[in-house]
Amino acid sequence: MSSDREHFGSRLAVILAMAGSAIGLGNIWRFPYMVGEYGGAVFILIYILCSFILALPIFLAESLIGRRSRRNAIAAMKTLAPGSRWSLFGYLSVFTPVVILSYYCIVGGWSLEYLLQSFSLGFSTFEPSGWTPLLFSTLFLAASCVVVALGVKNGIERFSKVSIPVLFVLILVIAVYAVRMPGAEKGVEYIVKPDFSRLSASTFAYALGQSFYSISLGMGIVLTYSSYVKKDENLVVSGAGTALADLLFALLAGMAIMPAVFASGLEPSSGPGLVFETLPQVFMGMGASVPWIGATVAVLFFLTLIVAAMTSSISLVEVPVAYLIENKGMKRGAACAVVFVLEWLLSLVSVFSIRAFGTVDAFSSNFLLTLGALLAILFVGWRMKKEDVRDEITNGGTTNRSLFPFLYFLIRWAAPVAVLAIFISNLVL
Ligand code: PHE
Repeated sequence: MSSDREHFGSRLAVILAMAGSAIGLGNIWRFPYMVGEYGGAVFILIYILCSFILALPIFLAESLIGRRSRRNAIAAMKTLAPGSRWSLFGYLSVFTPVVILSYYCIVGGWSLEYLLQSFSLGFSTFEPSGWTPLLFSTLFLAASCVVVALGVKNGIERFSKVSIPVLFVLILVIAVYAVRMPGAEKGVEYIVKPDFSRLSASTFAYALGQSFYSISLGMGIVLTYSSYVKKDENLVVSGAGTALADLLFALLAGMAIMPAVFASGLEPSSGPGLVFETLPQVFMGMGASVPWIGATVAVLFFLTLIVAAMTSSISLVEVPVAYLIENKGMKRGAACAVVFVLEWLLSLVSVFSIRAFGTVDAFSSNFLLTLGALLAILFVGWRMKKEDVRDEITNGGTTNRSLFPFLYFLIRWAAPVAVLAIFISNLVL
């Protein structure tokens, strides 16, 4: 059965698809603000350490579960730990993306609406709930499901290969424009100036939590995508490549957004308010004397937001779709239709109540995701045989041999302790 499974075509395709999932709202509306608030360059340094020393081992753990089993998240656990309670981890890994997508598609919808308004710079006041957001989020969700229906290679791979380079070009163009605005220096300083006085113990928890969310850990995505990765692919390289692309994009997003905000005399913030309230003011300000400049930058920005959200939402759709295809014997198209209907119904909750939106977001990013990451790392570190883990990470002893003892230590000790710490701090805070 596994032989007729689809595969990503090349190493680059794997990294681009994973980066597509990783680069999303987290990079655009959370990272830049966190950097500024928690110590600038110091935070960036901590974030890099967290990404490569703690998030990467978890990425590897999920990745090797997926590739070893070559199954969707639920079947993977039944294959690797038959008859055990670990199958609950499999169910969680499918449940989490289903929950996340139900509100993520709404943000995709808002972005679509704002893209249309950008052409005339006619931004209305931000109206997050109601029928219009529902209309646009339905379109966004449908588009994501269509890409997934086209297949792993013809849909996900092809879409990521085009959109990731486009995303980098777009954000680079905006950043170059933004840092040259008069008064932009304060924004650049906000991001890069080290400020040790803002450091505290919770800085580490924030940095770690953000790196998990940003690299899409704990939601069955890395696991599912890795089940399409060939046996001779180096998992450490694709993991590091993904983390690097994600980091680079986050930094560019910071350089695109904060200088423009400060140059416009506005206050930085994070989340929907930054993107759908503050930035429209920035664009309107840019367009005050020469309207086409403001409109162009606005169009480029909301296009970036849509594409970034779309590559992430595609990865969310693929997780339940892979399960329906393999465990329920559905055709890909039918599975995508089922996921579309299910997500549409679930999205009604968040699209008609902004409070529900916030609750679903917080519950999934703070609780479900950390639990998923914790279980993945415990499974690989403590339940799987060391030999099997070694076999996957070194590709049967051909690569990463000298790196393995260090990676295995991180997988078994450092990463679980760190995730456990965040998990507990999320519960009590
Ligand atoms: N990595 C994504 C981001 O930064 C998080 C995410 C992935 C969220 C996939 C939803 C779906 O936005």
